[in-house]
Amino acid sequence: MKLLVCGGAGFIGSNFVRLRVRDHGDDVVVLDKLTYAGRRENLHDTLDQVRFVHGAIEDPDAVADAIEGVDAVVNFAAETHVDRSIADPDAFLRTNAIGTYVLLEAARAAGVRFLQVSTDEVYGSIEEGSFTEESPLQPSSPYSATKTGADLLVASYFHTYGLETVICRGSNNYGPYQYPEKLIPLMVLNALHGDKLPVYGDGMQVRNWLYVEDFGRGIGHALAHGAPGEVYNCGGPDECPNIEVVERIVSLTGNDASLIEHVTDRPGHDRRYSLSSEKLRALGWEAQVHFAEGLEQTVAWYRENAWWWEPIRSGDYREYYERQYGRALG
Ligand code: NAD
Ligand code: DAU
Repeated sequence: MKLLVCGGAGFIGSNFVRLRVRDHGDDVVVLDKLTYAGRRENLHDTLDQVRFVHGAIEDPDAVADAIEGVDAVVNFAAETHVDRSIADPDAFLRTNAIGTYVLLEAARAAGVRFLQVSTDEVYGSIEEGSFTEESPLQPSSPYSATKTGADLLVASYFHTYGLETVICRGSNNYGPYQYPEKLIPLMVLNALHGDKLPVYGDGMQVRNWLYVEDFGRGIGHALAHGAPGEVYNCGGPDECPNIEVVERIVSLTGNDASLIEHVTDRPGHDRRYSLSSEKLRALGWEAQVHFAEGLEQTVAWYRENAWWWEPIRSGDYREYYERQYGRALG
């Protein structure tokens, strides 16, 4: 297939591009704005095998250039960090809502299949049981509200224009090349440096952890076998409270639990996410990596790839970290 992968220089997008080029021999065009979270380094071993277009999904000219001759569009491009959306939602609306609209228009003009990469956060929080694709959409943060808006727009293009759309909603991903603003890489890098580990509130919030390659395979399944207009959940095999995730990282890095510091909770913090993935399983997908194994591999990857994270830790990320945690951690 010839795929346009938007946001292919980010965490999940770059792992997906690697998987498609390596295992499927796909011809891939990457369209990416290269925000703080998008880096050519994420594609260091694959960049020479793809066509890279540096541009924004909300720019119709860049999109028209990138979409030329492709069979399908897979949209990962987004502002993705909940804490940043709370501090400043502006870019979230532009990219996640307007950007998706511009891409949908281009896919409609080109008549190609459109896969929207979405998130379990569109359903909000669930105390018990798991969300199915029929669960109501009740997003809590500006991030998840813009992702929900995008999902509704995608659905409208199926109903109104007959565009072949598929939505794939993933749970919390982890693995190599994840920007260290997110829980797991933040804790791993802090632990490797002997820095404090800032746990929001009581740390009993639960996430449904999905190894990034499992999500990439799930998206591939939904793209190849999903029915037009349908939504497919793609959840990880294991759930874990945040405090236990951090304790496991403390132990895998040979540290002491005294590094853990409970800090002020995130406003509007969702207590628990959990996805039922029966519908995607019926298409033949199954998660292959359990959390214990995937977390060990992920810690090892960060240990062995200082070349990847050193420039991040010494760059703009420091300012972000100061703003987000400086006061709480003294
Ligand atoms: P990320 O922040 O690591 O990467 C986002 C990528 O999008 C970056 O390469 C960035 O440069 C690019 N981008 C941002 N704005 C853009 C724009 N206007 N035009 C073009 N490119 C732009 O994000 P991620 O964690 O890899 O998430 C990818 C997708 O998966 C997102 O749509 C997110 O909502 C979804 N998702 C993420 C998770 C998770 O746990 N991280 C789980 C489920 C779904
Ligand atoms: O569920 C899928 C979503 O997962 C994606 O749609 C989002 O793009 C992605 O960012 C992620 O959102 P979360 O808010 O769940 O992930 P984050 O890594 O920011 O936080 C995970 C949990 O850890 C959450 O309960 C907040 C908590 N946390 C996070 C950070 C960064 C802490 O306790 N301390 C921290 O410093």
